[in-house]
Amino acid sequence: MSGQRIIAIDGPAASGKSTVAHETAKRLNCIYVDSGALYRGVTWKMIQAGVDTKHSLQVIPALLKSKWTFTVRDGAVVFSIDGVEPGDALRSKQVTEAVSDIAAMPPVRKFVVHRLRKLSSLGSLAMEGRDIGSVVFPKTPYKFYLDASPEERAKRRHAEFTAKGEPEKAQEVLESLQRRDQKDSSRKTAPLKIADGAYVIDTSGHNVEEVTKIVIDRIHELERPRSEAMISPGLYRAACNVLGFGLKICNQIKVVGLQNVPKTGGLIIASNHASYLDPPAIGSFCRMRTIHFMARDTLFRNPLMSGFMRHVGVIPLDRERGGDLKAMKTAIQLLQDGGAVALFPEGTRTTDGNLQPPKPGVGFLVAKGCSPVVPVYIHGSYEAWSKYSGGLKRVPITVIFGQLITREEIRRLGTGRKAYALIGELIMKRIAELKEKFEKGQIDE
Ligand code: DC
Repeated sequence: MSGQRIIAIDGPAASGKSTVAHETAKRLNCIYVDSGALYRGVTWKMIQAGVDTKHSLQVIPALLKSKWTFTVRDGAVVFSIDGVEPGDALRSKQVTEAVSDIAAMPPVRKFVVHRLRKLSSLGSLAMEGRDIGSVVFPKTPYKFYLDASPEERAKRRHAEFTAKGEPEKAQEVLESLQRRDQKDSSRKTAPLKIADGAYVIDTSGHNVEEVTKIVIDRIHELERPRSEAMISPGLYRAACNVLGFGLKICNQIKVVGLQNVPKTGGLIIASNHASYLDPPAIGSFCRMRTIHFMARDTLFRNPLMSGFMRHVGVIPLDRERGGDLKAMKTAIQLLQDGGAVALFPEGTRTTDGNLQPPKPGVGFLVAKGCSPVVPVYIHGSYEAWSKYSGGLKRVPITVIFGQLITREEIRRLGTGRKAYALIGELIMKRIAELKEKFEKGQIDE
């Protein structure tokens, strides 16, 4: 990831957002920003200046006179006001009690929001607050809203104060926190709310490590190549239903061996290829998995077709370039994330109905994807609609899902070019065995 990330982490007090934002910033090399500290800074300055924090007519002129400077220290943004760094004073009881009134004043919010936005010139940010995803950076794709049950929040505050040797303060602090939440959620300007598109995480019962992992996984998910991110489950289902129905009516399709398909985990489905009917013959009936097919990119030239294929998760493959690295990377990432990828090892549809040798890239993909392979033999699709059949014929089709080629079996073939060739050959051998069994009538339909 080379671009800039603005990670917005919003939520009520004691939802865990500070620790999670800190941890996320550290792991993703972002600058941590506590936006609440700026509202606290304004409040602190007003108290210092003897300004009544409930009266915006007094607050605003004093605020506009103040000079703020920002720096990054130990991976976090720190600031000074009129040359003084408020530091721990930002967390004093006096500031804490007055900050909600200050944060509810629209001109204060405008002042703070403007400064928060300018911080983006420093680089990637993990910013925590109440309105970061909704107001400060509404366009960022990385929006999170952390929440926790009141009991959990009380528990966290209790633990925090017990650790500080002041357990009696926990109740008092919780009540103050609830009062602030109430004010922050009911104010007119930028109230605490879930931003559009924010990913909501209930942190109750999860530790920092777990929540940080959820946040980081989500960020990586959002950054995954479009072919996967764009899969539209509704369209995928509809396509399977319509095409599956067509294959039943027109080709009396029979599908056997579906029990060989693992329901979860990275998986490669490798089939012989004779017809445009092959992808729907596999996908429409293998409904325990959402399958990403690899298909030559020339099929994406027609805009309508391209839109459809992208929405059903097809990975475009540049066959001219042999090993299309971008497509390979997409497929490998999908497999590592537990997805299912279908490919045709022969590369292109057969011209004579016979099986063809595997393409060199297949073994590489299988080895790098570290996933088991289900070999598939499709019988009849060549006769039903081949390159030269001149259209669709009402010929019966049978799809056979064979025994899984396990990861261990693949690993045993080694690494490097020679191993890649052997992997491709092994897959085609298993497909050929299924063909032979079918032709000898040894497959129970
Ligand atoms: O997170 P905190 O307790 O330090 O926040 C201090 C106050 O500032 C709290 O009342 C909520 C308010 N705040 C806000 O209104 N918007 C933000 N983005 C961050 C904090």
